[in-house]
Amino acid sequence: MRQAAITGWGKCAPDKVLSNDDLATLLDTNDEWITSRTGMKERRISPVPVSELSYIAAARALACAGVNADDVDMIILGSCSFDSQVPNAASRVQQLLQANNAACMDLNTACTSGMYAMSVASAMIKAGTINNAVIIGAEVIHPFMDWTDRNVAILFGDGAAAFYLEAQDSEENIGIQAEALGCIANSRDILAVNGVGLKYANQGWPLGTTEWDFEGREIFKQAINGMQSGCEKALSKMGISTSDVDIVIPHQANLRIIEALAQRLKVPSEKLFINIHRYANMSAATAPMAIVEAVEENIVKPGDLILVPAFGAGLTWSAQLIRWGQRCEAIGESDVKLPESKETALEIIKKVAEIHLKNPS
Ligand code: ACO
Repeated sequence: MRQAAITGWGKCAPDKVLSNDDLATLLDTNDEWITSRTGMKERRISPVPVSELSYIAAARALACAGVNADDVDMIILGSCSFDSQVPNAASRVQQLLQANNAACMDLNTACTSGMYAMSVASAMIKAGTINNAVIIGAEVIHPFMDWTDRNVAILFGDGAAAFYLEAQDSEENIGIQAEALGCIANSRDILAVNGVGLKYANQGWPLGTTEWDFEGREIFKQAINGMQSGCEKALSKMGISTSDVDIVIPHQANLRIIEALAQRLKVPSEKLFINIHRYANMSAATAPMAIVEAVEENIVKPGDLILVPAFGAGLTWSAQLIRWGQRCEAIGESDVKLPESKETALEIIKKVAEIHLKNPS
């Protein structure tokens, strides 16, 4: 049977760390509040745009799979922070990778984009449309953050993670085995970034400034409901329950959301993978990065069944059940890395905040 196996994985977490204490120098907040309400301790800030961060994660995923960029059929970049709209950002990743035979697609379902990209690539591989794909979940959120709004500014960070998926004819079931995707109707206004998107072009909106509509409590409730129903749908497609799942790797938007979801799904804490304290919410990069780290930390074992619930603005939701293959070690390593830059995370953020204050929206 034709399967879409995950044979390569890679991440790019910029080394510029923005701690809760750093944030407290800019905003009326503190480490105790952020840690107790969200579980976040620090986040990363990228010195490069999302396509360049994506390129590094993708190059690492290809090296991990032991394949050349020329062999790639398709690049899908899942994100909502594309550095260009036309041409798309995936074609910039192609250019940097020199993946000259690849089709290139941007995909935006906000925080779920990386996992939707995996679902799309997997379906196209199983259908025979393509033989392989690099899928990326990546986000560089800090340039469009409203750094005057403590309700949202503390929650997000930058990062990228990528997977190489390839067709395998195998009796063994590997890759995505079941999934459920959806979007909660009439909830699109509870999370919106005003100032980003072509409706603002040439309309007099101060260039580069944003204002977030963000109903935190409502998002919190709907996120749990959406992910719970997604997981139940995906599990029922396979006729299994969470006790048959080896590890749950959820989207990391708030530790309390993860704990509430785990309680509803009856998932014990030892089956949960959590890295929110290191990165905060990297939107589209979050779930992919958590999967990569769970593999790198030997938490994912050969043949494990992984459940990945996620949600994002829209409010989109997703849940994939992924059967990992027999290999958990990388075949090779890429030597690509981010360019050197001396600026600290806080210095980068302060620059964006100053621009925002000069151009209030
Ligand atoms: N520091 C200190 N105090 C703060 C901060 C802060 N950073 N932010 C808010 N507060 C204050 C509020 O002003 C409020 O004060 P008040 O009681 O005097 O009015 C108090 O803390 C409590 O605020 P709440 O909003 O009720 O706090 P809550 O416990 O709901 O936590 C949070 C807020 C963390 C945002 C939570 O609602 C949440 O995580 N929601 C989900 C957000 C999320 O997942 N977003 C991802 C979206 S996905 C995407 O696609 C972008």
